Amino acid sequence: MINKEAVLTSIQQPMQRYRDHMLADLKDWMPLEDAARLLLEGKPIVYEEYIPDFRPLIKMMELIVEKAGGPGWDWADPEIRRVFKEVAEGNIYTLFSEVIVDMLISIMKRVPVRTVVEVGTGPGTVTANLCRTMVENHFEQVPIVISDRVPFITQVGDTLRKAYPSLSISDFIWNVRERAPEELTKKLAHPVLLFERFCMPYTGYDALDTIAPLGDILIIVDDLSLTGKKYAYDQIYGKIGSQFLLFEKAKHRLEKYFTFIHACDREAAEAIHSPVITFTLAVK
Ligand SMILES: C[S@@+](CC[C@H](N)C(=O)[O-])C[C@H]1O[C@@H](n2cnc3c(N)ncnc32)[C@H](O)[C@@H]1O
Repeated sequence: MINKEAVLTSIQQPMQRYRDHMLADLKDWMPLEDAARLLLEGKPIVYEEYIPDFRPLIKMMELIVEKAGGPGWDWADPEIRRVFKEVAEGNIYTLFSEVIVDMLISIMKRVPVRTVVEVGTGPGTVTANLCRTMVENHFEQVPIVISDRVPFITQVGDTLRKAYPSLSISDFIWNVRERAPEELTKKLAHPVLLFERFCMPYTGYDALDTIAPLGDILIIVDDLSLTGKKYAYDQIYGKIGSQFLLFEKAKHRLEKYFTFIHACDREAAEAIHSPVITFTLAVK
């Protein structure tokens, strides 16, 4: 049985940091929505009119709109990988990444986690940050399992193992629309701390049925709508198969597996006029 109070205490400080940053630097999420609307209308974007934090996100939306008429979206496409890497290394994604890692480490300090699992690892930007912080905090005894649908995960695994030789890192090709491969589940010692960032919109709620049974604590870092209203931003991401997800629906699915589900950044979302929350926590 996981101590829910300990988990909640763990996320307090990272969430405070997130809220402070959002309120101080971004203040308002709506200019990003305005850029999305311009892109949908085929109008030019004057990048200088947007705060630097938003620019990589706008560039990503521009690439999606540009590629939408083409043969399809492929995360393994080198141009897509390059632009997404820019997004992932930009200030907003970096903040998301730092906050997730803060949450994970803080939980590991209070709960005796025996495996950390990431799904939809992609280029491994969050993972690299996690590995560095785990070494700094002497969590070498906790194995890390990373996974993604695309075979590139093997290269990501190799790079991380080379950079962090003291950690135990295993990589698996796992399409989370299907059950986890047995070789992966065999690696899991419980309690398992499981997380993902920006993967679920490409898999839909059904992925929760394959992911949730594996984890004792789950952190989902995805935009989940609080209001149900769709924006231009959602329409653009819809072009690459990104689904519009509702917090209430995800919560309902998660309730099959977890006894405690929490929208961690509800207060911050409201403060910056964002209709979505980004950090959801679930505990068994
Ligand atoms: C937006 S990227 C996020 C990558 C990484 N989590 C990050 O935040 O930097 C989405 C990732 O989800 C992965 N993905 C999409 N559908 C998937 C599926 N069905 N199973 C596993 N991974 C999937 C993609 O391959 C891609 O690496």
